[in-house]
Amino acid sequence: MKILLAGATGAIGRQLLPLLVAAGHEVVSTTRSPDRARLIAAAGGRPALVDCLDRAEVFELLRKEHPDVVIHQLTALSARDLEANSRLRIEGTRHLVDASLEVGVERMIAQSIAFAYAPGSGPATEDEPLHLEATGARGLTVAGVHALEQAVAEMPIGVVLRYGVLYGPGTWYARHGLFTEGLRRGEVVASDGVTSFVHVADAARAAVDALEWPAGPVNVVDDEPAAESTWMPLYAKLVGAPAPARRPGREGWQRGASNQRARELGWQPVYPSWREGFREVLSPGSR
Ligand SMILES: NC(=O)c1ccc[n+]([C@@H]2O[C@H](COP(=O)([O-])OP(=O)(O)OC[C@H]3O[C@@H](n4cnc5c(N)ncnc54)[C@H](OP(=O)(O)O)[C@@H]3O)[C@@H](O)[C@H]2O)c1
Repeated sequence: MKILLAGATGAIGRQLLPLLVAAGHEVVSTTRSPDRARLIAAAGGRPALVDCLDRAEVFELLRKEHPDVVIHQLTALSARDLEANSRLRIEGTRHLVDASLEVGVERMIAQSIAFAYAPGSGPATEDEPLHLEATGARGLTVAGVHALEQAVAEMPIGVVLRYGVLYGPGTWYARHGLFTEGLRRGEVVASDGVTSFVHVADAARAAVDALEWPAGPVNVVDDEPAAESTWMPLYAKLVGAPAPARRPGREGWQRGASNQRARELGWQPVYPSWREGFREVLSPGSR
């Protein structure tokens, strides 16, 4: 199959490209950086230097390549700029969908999040609404994923992967990741808010599986949503940070998500619980 992987150099993309190549697919992979283009080539992809915020560049790429499938793993989170990230989700997705529809791409698989659901109790299922009333930074994020998901739904087959909080190599939740550093500095507080995690390698595997999945949203999260007051002390211990201070209570939307649909579709995470995954990725010597 010929696949266009938009965002091949991000935390998920780096894990996903080798899986797609190993499965025998021809993978055209985007980056804006000539240096990262070399990494793509080394991993067996064919690099395409494209800025997905540039509509003309995206159309030119799709008209040239005519892929069977587009996998959209674009985010702009390296600088923690939520506004830039939301803009990329809104505008970048629009460009990808419009260009894909023009050249007759059948399937798009796109990255969303499993923590944009409206407040409620218990892990959220895909049938529940997004938190469209959210304001501030959260409002910006939800507006971005909502626009992304609406646009992807215009495809003949649009699969939306609602990922839990990513952990593992290259993420904020790694031994030397951004979250870990905050924890070490004592800046983090553990509430009763519930988090659903997913190991970044399992996130990549879901994108491969989704080449066969029906249209619609799928939560890609592990089996064990957990309160911050449960997972944070263990995390702190593994990275040698002080135990975080406690703050009872949770925001209504901090509820985790159910992976029942992904499981029914056959997704089998190597790390079904953050408990094993954390031990592996946070131990001394891990990246
Ligand atoms: N669900 C989650 O918890 C979640 C999801 C995503 C990210 N994150 C966190 O965010 C952090 C940063 O994410 P990341 O490492 O994936 O990096 P990132 O900076 O968010 O970039 C992701 C991908 O998007 C591409 N990209 C960004 N802007 C683009 C544009 N205008 N045109 C074309 N491509 C563009 C990047 O390509 P180039 O820069 O090579 O052009 C890269 O391949 C991670 O550490 C992770 O923990 C969390």
